[in-house]
Amino acid sequence: MTKKINAAITGVGMYVPDKVLDNKYFESIVDTNDEWIMTRTGIKERRILEQGATSDLAAGAIKNLLETTGTDPEEIDLIIVATVTPDMFFPATACLVQNKVGAKNAWGFDLSAACSGFLFALDTGSKFIEAGTHKKVIVVGADKMSSIVDYTDRNTCILFGDAGSAVLLEPNEDLNFGLQNSILKVDGSGSEALHMKAGGSAMPSSHETIDNKYHYIYQDGKAVFKVAVKGMADVSVEILEKNNLTGDDIAWLVPHQANLRIIDATAKRMGLPKERVTINIDKYGNTTAATIPLCLTEYYRDGKIKKGDKLVLAAFGGGFTWGARYLVWSMD
Ligand code: COA
Repeated sequence: MTKKINAAITGVGMYVPDKVLDNKYFESIVDTNDEWIMTRTGIKERRILEQGATSDLAAGAIKNLLETTGTDPEEIDLIIVATVTPDMFFPATACLVQNKVGAKNAWGFDLSAACSGFLFALDTGSKFIEAGTHKKVIVVGADKMSSIVDYTDRNTCILFGDAGSAVLLEPNEDLNFGLQNSILKVDGSGSEALHMKAGGSAMPSSHETIDNKYHYIYQDGKAVFKVAVKGMADVSVEILEKNNLTGDDIAWLVPHQANLRIIDATAKRMGLPKERVTINIDKYGNTTAATIPLCLTEYYRDGKIKKGDKLVLAAFGGGFTWGARYLVWSMD
C-alpha cells in the first residue's frame, strides 16, 4: 500500500521591482490625498515594474526561491502561474517563466482566479504532490497590475502594485505538518462588479475599446467591499470550524492584501488580535495573486512564521472567487 502523503511548503521566494510610487505621487496625478488613502485602504506605497512583464516578476521570484533553497531548476516538475495579467493570451506565462528560469524538465500552466489565484493554484499544485506523480511543484502568484490600471481613475489607481512571489511544494510524510485542507468558492454573478471589459472574445480590442478605456480594471469598490468583507470573514470562520479550531489556535492569519479594513474585519470575526495577522499592504498595495506568498515569504524570513505554526490563508477577489486554506508550517 502506498503511504499517504500531503504537500508541504519547503521554500519561498519573492521579487518586487525597485520603483516605488508613494501616496504623495498620487496626490500629484489625481484628486486624492495621503490621509484618504491611508484611512480607507492602509496603503502607503506600491512597487511598479518599469521594464518587463509578469513573467519577469514570476521568474524573479522563482530564481530567488531556487537560490535560497539550493534547488537546481532542472529538478522542478511543474510550474503553476496564478495571474490575471499574463504576458500575452498565448503562450501561457508559465511557458515563458519555465524558459526564463531554466526549468527544462517542468511543464506548466496559468491559472486565473484574480486575487484568489494563489489559493486556487496552491490547491491545484498540492493535488499533483498528493497523487504521487510530482515531487517538486512551484506555485507562483505574479501580477503586473500597473499594465491594466487607469492612472487617471482615483478609485482604482491608488490600490494596486506589481510583484511576484512563489512557494515550492514537496511531498511530506508527517501529516501533522503541511497543507491540511481548504475551502474554495466561486460566484460568477459577481463578475459585473469587478472585471476588465475588453480584449477577450466577448469584446475584442478595437479603436473603440481603447477610446472607452475598456482595457483597464473596472471595479465598483463599494459593492465589492461589501461582499469581500463578508465573504473573506465567513470562509475564514468556516475553515476554523472545519478543523475544530478557534482563533486561539492560529499563529497567523495570512490574508489577501486588498484593504486593511477587510483584513481587520476578518481577524475580528476569527477572534484574532492584530499581532497575529500578516500585513504588508502598506508597502506593496494590492498585488493580486502575489499578496499571500509575499506575506509568507517576508514573515518567514523575518523569523515570525515558525515551524509548527498553524496558519489560515484567506482571499477574496474578482469572479467572484474566494476561499481559505489551513496549513501547519513545516520549515525550520
Ligand atoms: N481619493 C479621494 N477620494 C476618493 C478616492 C481617492 N483615491 N477614491 C474614491 N474617492 C471618493 C469617491 O469618489 C467617493 O466620493 P463621493 O462620495 O463624492 O462619490 C468617496 O471617496 C467614497 O468612495 P467609496 O467608494 O465609498 O470609498 P470606500 O470607503 O468604499 O473605499 C475602496 C474605496 C476602493 C478603497 C473600497 O471600496 C475597497 O477596498 N473595495 C474593495 C476592494 C477589494 O477588496 N477588491 C477585491 C479584491 S481586488
